[in-house]
Amino acid sequence: MRILFLGDIIGKAGRDIVAAELPRFIETLKLDFVIANGENAAHGFGITRAIANELFALGVACITTGNHWADQREILPVLDEDDRILRPRNLPAGAPGKGANLYQARNGQSVLVIAPMGRVFMDAYDDPFAAVDKELNACPLGEGADAIVVDMHAEATSEKMAMGHFCDGRVSMVVGSHQHVPTADAQILPNGTAYQSDAGACCDYDSVIGMDKFEPIQRFTRKMPTNRFTPATGPGTMCGIFVETNTKGLASRIDPVRIG
Ligand code: FE2
Repeated sequence: MRILFLGDIIGKAGRDIVAAELPRFIETLKLDFVIANGENAAHGFGITRAIANELFALGVACITTGNHWADQREILPVLDEDDRILRPRNLPAGAPGKGANLYQARNGQSVLVIAPMGRVFMDAYDDPFAAVDKELNACPLGEGADAIVVDMHAEATSEKMAMGHFCDGRVSMVVGSHQHVPTADAQILPNGTAYQSDAGACCDYDSVIGMDKFEPIQRFTRKMPTNRFTPATGPGTMCGIFVETNTKGLASRIDPVRIG
């Protein structure tokens, strides 16, 4: 199976580059399944129903999120209605929607997507490792799903790498999101799981992790917020990871994607 994961789509610059490049990419790479992290798609904070529908129309089959999952309140009821959008898996009980789901890819095979969130330098969520373990026990690779993708939305590369090795041999791919900068460690782990600490973002990189530079610099240098963060509006770059799986659902190939 041929799978593309797109890193955090940030604001209009991110949405525009994805709209310009993704449909062609799906055809030329003969992609079976596309996942995108969309938690920053609505002007940097959260996602709306309209933006989610735009991404689905472009060929995205599953939208993952992270710490900004609930920034746009209108998305809360949508999460219960449309399981193509995942909220983080390890939220306290009672959160709307799902943090993992089984989908059908274009080639007819099944893909389980799990969206855990890290806890290092993040809020105090439930244990992401236990949450992923529970999903994998309920739906093992090769039995319940033909491919499994874990989007580990976390700040610390150590926690992401630990998740990679924790899942090695049990999932097709563990990819990090949230840092908004692609890491240079694409690899296939010893037991066959594709791994990269962070997929990067789909955004204007003439920015501070996707945001217009002025306000972040202001906050670092003066320790005084003056305005809200707003996404940078220059030309975007599309970053992600392409993975091809073998008959066991493990990775035979991983290629970082960077367009723009
Ligand atoms: Fe995030």
